[in-house]
Amino acid sequence: MKSTKILKSYNELSSTVANIVEEQITKNPLTKLALPTGSTPLGLYDELVKRKLDWSLVITFNLDVYLMNVKHPQSYQTYMRKNLFEKTNIYPDHSHFPFRPFSAFEDKIEKSMGIDLCILGIGSNGHIAFNEPGSSFDSRTRVVELSEQTIEDNSRFFDSIDDVPKQAITMGLGTIMESKKIVLMVNGDHKLNILNVAMNGEVTEDVPASILQNHENVEVYYCE
Ligand code: GLP
Repeated sequence: MKSTKILKSYNELSSTVANIVEEQITKNPLTKLALPTGSTPLGLYDELVKRKLDWSLVITFNLDVYLMNVKHPQSYQTYMRKNLFEKTNIYPDHSHFPFRPFSAFEDKIEKSMGIDLCILGIGSNGHIAFNEPGSSFDSRTRVVELSEQTIEDNSRFFDSIDDVPKQAITMGLGTIMESKKIVLMVNGDHKLNILNVAMNGEVTEDVPASILQNHENVEVYYCE
């Protein structure tokens, strides 16, 4: 069972996780980060930008991307560019999104000696990255079909639910679990129930985030 640190506000959630990222980058300028998207990490990215850290040697791997035009305003490539990459001194060649062939993406992670710090959010159905319920705990980077629930949840970012991509590429649960350290960020009491199920319930592929109970170095931060 993992203990969850409860924070007083979204600002505190963002600055607490920014402290962890800052400490990691300062300790090891060659840090490899796995990064999430969605609404939860927006405050974290704002905070990291304000801190003007040196990203020149940092390498990033995004957790997932929609299968869609990368130039679309709601693509995760656009999201990362607007919210972090173009506001820091990270080298464009150092930021990676899952790509085909997936074995080459996985090789890139492995050859860079693995992910030092993986920041995660959680979906309302317990998904992490785009590993939907039923994903194998051994899964690697691959194309996935998004669940009805995820499509509905993410429709708030699109003009209409019909515009939400139905497929994505995600880092697998096996890939994520090889990260040396994992931080799970959870924002909002609508996520409290699934967080409790994931952290205190059965470890099962029906609740992908429950796999985190098996990781030795996970920190969970929640704010209402
Ligand atoms: C998307 C992303 C996930 C993210 C989840 C939660 O589905 N692929 O990586 O954790 O949304 O998003 P939010 O923070 O907006 O609730």
